[in-house]
Amino acid sequence: VKTIKVNLAQNTYEIRIGTGLLEQVGNRLEALGFKEKVVIITNPTVDGLYGQKLKGSLESAGLEVATLIVPDGEEYKSLEEAGKLYEQLGDFQAERNTPILALGGGVIGDLAGFVAATYLRGVPLVQIPTTLLAQVDSSIGGKVAVNHGKLKNNIGTFYQPRLVVADTDTLRTLPEVEFKNGLAEVIKYGIISDKTIFDAVAEKVPEIEWYYIGVARCAAIKADIVEKDEKDLGLRNILNYGHTVGHAIEIASDYSIKHGQGVAIGMVAAAWISREMGILSQNNLVTIRKTIVGAGLPVTLPDLPLEEILQAMQHDKKKVSGHLRFILPKTIGEVVVNDKVEMGLVEKILKGMYE
Ligand SMILES: NC(=O)c1ccc[n+]([C@@H]2O[C@H](COP(=O)([O-])OP(=O)(O)OC[C@H]3O[C@@H](n4cnc5c(N)ncnc54)[C@H](O)[C@@H]3O)[C@@H](O)[C@H]2O)c1
Ligand SMILES: [Zn+2]
Repeated sequence: VKTIKVNLAQNTYEIRIGTGLLEQVGNRLEALGFKEKVVIITNPTVDGLYGQKLKGSLESAGLEVATLIVPDGEEYKSLEEAGKLYEQLGDFQAERNTPILALGGGVIGDLAGFVAATYLRGVPLVQIPTTLLAQVDSSIGGKVAVNHGKLKNNIGTFYQPRLVVADTDTLRTLPEVEFKNGLAEVIKYGIISDKTIFDAVAEKVPEIEWYYIGVARCAAIKADIVEKDEKDLGLRNILNYGHTVGHAIEIASDYSIKHGQGVAIGMVAAAWISREMGILSQNNLVTIRKTIVGAGLPVTLPDLPLEEILQAMQHDKKKVSGHLRFILPKTIGEVVVNDKVEMGLVEKILKGMYE
């Protein structure tokens, strides 16, 4: 087991990464002082795979468990589903000290986190991420949100979990396409902060090694960034590398393009913009693109009107007074934040990114 501490002013918590951890959640909760009721929020897919194992662990620790199921899919990360969960929490008579356990990928983590932050003005949250993306990224750092119309992720708050348990055994059942989705964020960490992670993906270190080493390395980078800038006022922005264009593609495609795929295309777009602005070398642009292709991720724009992608970008929360904010790679392992990327340049690059 690898333990990473996230030290924050209001709340310090542990991220535990390793195998066989689902079975230990009950004991962990006992150690944190939770004694009575506990609520699991998950979806049918993850519940079918891991619901019983988690529930068993909680019940052996003497906890009374309710499992609340949300349908599987990004479209259910909504206020409507949050509303249904509030009602079910009320029916179960969940109280201020009743922890909510988010068992699943980033969708469940964001939605259950949002509900935990708002139900009774906040109940304890435990993240139990089961996708690569959630283990390396979304379960850490306290950003919780739902989507609303075109406001992707924009209805939310910062709400740190009490504990994150990343059982890497769960990654074994992850569909190939979801593993690749997570790899997009892994490549992101490589480009923004640690070239050795990037190289490991480029050299195709076997998936199995990611289960133990990669997840912990990426989680440690995220924890470090969050400690320095919990509320995303500066440094934390760099985690949005690839996300300006990525989010726009997700929205314009009505979420038929998954987060990791959008981010992959967005990372290439931002690298291209960076090269045009004389910040990144041509060589590094080629290496970035090649590595993303090698990971089985897309690097060209899907068949969507450019207008719609550009329009979705206008709604981006990273927009600063007319210009767009982009995270631009300087080299592999270092990025800069640039608030002055001109729409015209973005348009030109994106036009060249259709197949
Ligand atoms: N809060 C943050 O900081 C943050 C950061 C990045 C992404 N996100 C959000 O995360 C979401 C994407 O998360 P995701 O990629 O995990 O998608 P997801 O939650 O939709 O999970 C992907 C699919 O894998 C299934 N699944 C989950 N665990 C499984 C397992 N162990 N075995 C088999 N199948 C499994 C799910 O049921 C789902 O069908 C997006 O909504 C994105 O906005 C949030
Ligand atoms: Zn992301």
